[in-house]
Amino acid sequence: MTKQRKASIEYLANCKQFHLSNKHISYIFCVSEDGKLLQLYYGKKVPQEKSYTHLIEQHYRQQAPCRKKDDLLYSLDSLKQELPEYGTSDYRHPAIRLRQPNGSAISELVYSFHKIKAGKESLPGLPATYTEEPLEAETLKVCLKDELTGVVVEVMYAIFSDLPVITRNVNVINQGSENIFLTHLMSLNLDLPDSNYEWLQLSGAWGRERHVKKRTLQQGIQSIESTRGISSPQQNPFVALARAETTEFSGEVIGATLVYSGNFLVQAEVDTFDVTRLQLGINPFNFEWKLAPKETFVSPEAVLVYSDQGLNGMSQTFHTLFRKHLVRGEWRDRERPVLINNWEATYFDFNEDKLLAIAEKAQQVGVELFVLDDGWFGQRTHEKAGLGDWYVNKDRLPDGMGALANKIRGLGLKFGLWFEPEMINLDSDLYRKHPDWMLHTPNRKASHGRHQYVLNYANPEVVDNIFQQMCLVIDDSKLQYIKWDMNRVLSEVYAVNLPADQQGEVFHRYVLGVYDLYERLTTKYPNILFESCSSGGGRFDAGMLYYAPQAWTSDDTDAVERLKIQYGTSFLYPLSSMGSHVSVIPNHQTNRLVPLDTRANVAYFGTFGYELDLSKLSADEITEIKEQIAFFKKYQSVFHNGTFYRIQSPFEKNRTETSWMVVSEDQTIAIAGYYKMLNEVNRSFHRMKLQGLKADWDYVIDGHVHSGAELMYAGLVSSDASSGFLIDQSPLPPTHDYDSRLWVIEKA
Ligand code: DGJ
Repeated sequence: MTKQRKASIEYLANCKQFHLSNKHISYIFCVSEDGKLLQLYYGKKVPQEKSYTHLIEQHYRQQAPCRKKDDLLYSLDSLKQELPEYGTSDYRHPAIRLRQPNGSAISELVYSFHKIKAGKESLPGLPATYTEEPLEAETLKVCLKDELTGVVVEVMYAIFSDLPVITRNVNVINQGSENIFLTHLMSLNLDLPDSNYEWLQLSGAWGRERHVKKRTLQQGIQSIESTRGISSPQQNPFVALARAETTEFSGEVIGATLVYSGNFLVQAEVDTFDVTRLQLGINPFNFEWKLAPKETFVSPEAVLVYSDQGLNGMSQTFHTLFRKHLVRGEWRDRERPVLINNWEATYFDFNEDKLLAIAEKAQQVGVELFVLDDGWFGQRTHEKAGLGDWYVNKDRLPDGMGALANKIRGLGLKFGLWFEPEMINLDSDLYRKHPDWMLHTPNRKASHGRHQYVLNYANPEVVDNIFQQMCLVIDDSKLQYIKWDMNRVLSEVYAVNLPADQQGEVFHRYVLGVYDLYERLTTKYPNILFESCSSGGGRFDAGMLYYAPQAWTSDDTDAVERLKIQYGTSFLYPLSSMGSHVSVIPNHQTNRLVPLDTRANVAYFGTFGYELDLSKLSADEITEIKEQIAFFKKYQSVFHNGTFYRIQSPFEKNRTETSWMVVSEDQTIAIAGYYKMLNEVNRSFHRMKLQGLKADWDYVIDGHVHSGAELMYAGLVSSDASSGFLIDQSPLPPTHDYDSRLWVIEKA
């Protein structure tokens, strides 16, 4: 039996219309008479084999420059387009701009041909979503050409078969005979017919990453961006455009992200006719790429998700896409080890005995992986030295890293190490040998961050050197895990190995260098589990997930703060990607005293691990931790492969509780987490309405049977004892600040 195509890209020659469709969505555009790509529709599926070109609206607009002789209606300024260009009468921001030798930046890209094929192509040197079988997606390449310059542009679309997902990227090929400078290239340009959207973004700072912020779209430009060289904790490369009536569970929303880890721009421009132009791409600010004849520039991939099941529906699509079509390698499907990291336990103050004491305890409670964080290399006993020297500090670990690794493994634990491969300290052998490898502008002062400087990853020699250094340590200690950190952003950006007319390329080349090193390491060492990190979640993006299946979500390990951070992160990223650890109290970032069970109840909804000195805990705490790990291992596959639902948002004003849950794929097991902030006297009654269960199945919670329908429609009673002076008479246990509950809900 031949397998049915589930995604289809239809081309109707009579109206030159492309219709990308699967059972969920339709994305339709056509080629105009003068060869422009005009957007017709994006949203819930509509039938194929029909023309939609009547959706092109042309009206006479006063003052609008027109493109056709004797025609006052056809103006690019008011047409919805797929790849708007600069300077030929569209005054909104373009998706592409090419500066030519005569100084002009005007182009006239015209349809030339297209190709449709099964599957999805990878992007050279860049991360991208992928398929394992051709039937999982279909790809459309539309080629446009600018006759005058010879520049050819390939607009690449892919539609996934089973998911409401469309990806897009743009390749620019210089088939002319002169250099062209690409100053502006958006991976995605989507002109939507109206502007009735709430714009939702994930913003923050170090230690406060991906908080959910909303605003209503208005005429004009609204955007988020990074100019720091990394995707950044300030803004995540993501936006959701939701209808005013959209909730977590119902209503329309369009989510978009960029599979990229550097400077980005996410922008919505609402024009005077309330058309919304949504764009995602490399930030044009400080970007200019010289394209010599025969050279190609490949843009990063943008991912577009449509949901009519509200924000949760959108997030679940992103989660499935990232888990199955972005994260690669053997760790994609393997259970991740419960780890212990020594950073908050010791900081720089450790020796082998101290580490082994923590590791021994860790093994006893069921931890599976020991991670040695910053401070094991070069002269790194403090922040001012050592970065760049990736060989063991024998004063600290006299028998070497291989010996320590063997001892840890001898305890029955896996062994992992921290690196910060993109950085250099002035006090390092690497700097003394290669001062020019540091990113700096000649004759200008270089700014430090945390006393360190950034290596010039736009120079392949630098990447080679770090690769070789890392391989020696990896081979010596047979590493099973690497935490790849990145603790400062780029400044005084200039690459001394590149000529003046290529300095606009440095930010992007830097990212390509990072990807190159990741690619070489993950290819050479497919068994190593990588966790990305950038002072916590400063580079938590889809680009990184392609190489490192998990990312340290935030340096803020306080469980209460983590509720917001993990809630926001879940808009896009699956639980299996969110590094989350139980840390010590008083918490090192907030000084807060959160009970051990609540700390774990938050951390379970992530990759799960510990970041404290187990040798300093009481016997009771150790017993509790042992139980926590046993619990997590039992349900790990539900946490990591299940469907996640956000139920109650910590971002809602006056809300004192947060809740969320995860449901196994077969809907037989669910785990719900409920978190209360401050204790209240005479508290009102609370219920948590569960999601994702089978209404007509019975489920058991704490020995009681409830129907799925009851749990979803009436809700699960989540009231706790009402604190007050009669607290002793309550049938429920006494309550306190930062209480939490965790329910395992199993099919009867
Ligand atoms: C920042 C990371 O986020 C921390 O977890 C830790 O690895 C430190 N860097 C070490 O310098």
